[in-house]
Amino acid sequence: MKVLIHATPELAIARAADQIVARLDALPGTVLGLATGGTMEAVYARLIEHHRRGEVSFAQSRSFNLDEYVGLPPDHPRSYWRYMRGHLFDHVDFAEGATHLPRGDAADPEAEAAAYEKAIAAAGDIGLQLLGLGANGHIGFNEPTSSLSSLTRIKTLTRSTREANARYFDNPDDVPRLAITMGIGTIMRADEVVLLAYGDSKAEAAAAMIEGPLSAACPASALQMHRKATIVLDQAAASRLKLRDYYEEVHPGGRDDLV
Ligand code: GLP
Repeated sequence: MKVLIHATPELAIARAADQIVARLDALPGTVLGLATGGTMEAVYARLIEHHRRGEVSFAQSRSFNLDEYVGLPPDHPRSYWRYMRGHLFDHVDFAEGATHLPRGDAADPEAEAAAYEKAIAAAGDIGLQLLGLGANGHIGFNEPTSSLSSLTRIKTLTRSTREANARYFDNPDDVPRLAITMGIGTIMRADEVVLLAYGDSKAEAAAAMIEGPLSAACPASALQMHRKATIVLDQAAASRLKLRDYYEEVHPGGRDDLV
């Protein structure tokens, strides 16, 4: 794992966005794995800025999002489809039909999950996977105790995840209980992974992910087994790392050879 600790959330966000720009520059046809959540809003805002300045194009790339709520149709205001259109897809130059999310309103969600997994594999798997981090250590919607070799499937959300996401819904009871999510095994097949986490609320999960045991109790710890995982943190999210001095010595200010 490459652990990059930045002075501020803004610098961490910029570093995560830069990795996507660099990947598309080197491999314009790359398959992007995209994430949702509050953390990613600023990353997508930066990508839109880069795109408007002519610094990045998505025209030859394709994307697969990590997850979608079961039961929400694509046009539902809280669906991840709507999130992605509002925060990225409507503002950059992906080709028609190049962006994918599971259908939350599929009649048979299990079949939808299996078809989504097949589509990712048929695209040659993910080139660069962008990830956030749940406060309980989840990635995508792979909640604690998820199989570390799982594929795309239905997961039941924990109470804490539903509470964390209740801020986006009018009523906390409206947060769906189930989601279709890429599995940890799906994510692990990605060529490279960049995980972004900032703020105190992520400090415990970040420490478990980076320095804890490899364990389904912290699904993100599976990234310890990934050959090319970059973890981008701010000072607050890094505050519980025991080897923090070491990471800061190797990458002062979070700098590495990308920038
Ligand atoms: C959500 C998403 C994850 C996201 C995480 C953190 O529920 N399924 O992909 O990374 O939880 O969300 P946030 O960035 O809002 O803290």
